[in-house]
Amino acid sequence: MKVTIVGAGAVGASCAEYIAMKNFCSEVVLVDIKEGFAEGKAMDLMQTASLNGFDTKLIGSTNDYTKTANSDLAVITSGIPRKPGMTREELIGINAGIVKEVTENLVKQSPNVIIIVVSNPMDTMAYLVHKTSGLPKERVIGMGGALDSARFKYRLAEALEAPISDVDGMVIAAHSDTGMVPLISKATRNGVPVSEFLDSQKLEYVVNETKVGGATLTKLLGTSAWYAPGAAVSVMVQAIACDQKKMIPCSLLLNGEYGESDICLGVPAIIGKNGVEKIVEIDLSDAEKSEFKAAADAVREVNKDLK
Ligand code: 2OP
Repeated sequence: MKVTIVGAGAVGASCAEYIAMKNFCSEVVLVDIKEGFAEGKAMDLMQTASLNGFDTKLIGSTNDYTKTANSDLAVITSGIPRKPGMTREELIGINAGIVKEVTENLVKQSPNVIIIVVSNPMDTMAYLVHKTSGLPKERVIGMGGALDSARFKYRLAEALEAPISDVDGMVIAAHSDTGMVPLISKATRNGVPVSEFLDSQKLEYVVNETKVGGATLTKLLGTSAWYAPGAAVSVMVQAIACDQKKMIPCSLLLNGEYGESDICLGVPAIIGKNGVEKIVEIDLSDAEKSEFKAAADAVREVNKDLK
């Protein structure tokens, strides 16, 4: 399995490290536009191989996409991250052009590639990759829900004073500070609904902290987070590489599912060797449905900026 990661910044390099350490793919190609940067990161990571016990081969390339030829999978992390106080949507002006060019380069070298989109504003960038690549819709997957669900579980475990391994939960809709829908109604502590342990005030706190999870870290770090985004991508890459049929919330091009069409939004999906094996339609409460619709309306507005 050959995986290309475009963007050797913090997110891309973390993703490469987690993929390498999980030792499930043969080759990872890191690409960046900054002279020598991807080559340096790949070499530094390769020098951890004997220490971390993996055989994955990592190479770097300064904007030479021939090195990415015949990739099975590609991850687009390139573009600028947000600064404290910025929304992800404010990045569209710069990132749309970068993501479009990167997509064209990737598909030229790997016509059957599966693309995972990380660059923000991610739901809109995923939509742009669909339109630019011409790939079958099951081969373009936006990464947002996997990360937001991890932050949701973190906040739930914190509120429950429980180990993360006891907690499960999923976030759908938009990967934005206002458009996320953490599914409290389906969140559990070892199979028991969390509403049996947390009152409405605590649940509201968990939901709100989940929604601004990225912004909270950007304020602390001065830039976007990278460990959890990189790890979330590596889980999706492994689900595809190992044909795991995992159900992961991903930003996917909808064609009537959840009442929406011609838009990318986070929905539960079965992820395997073909990319999106199936979109899973789950029952939502009336409140969850209206939040999903509001998120769709907001993403549609941002998508208009692509024109
Ligand atoms: C985040 O939420 C970078 O959008 C990513 O951290």
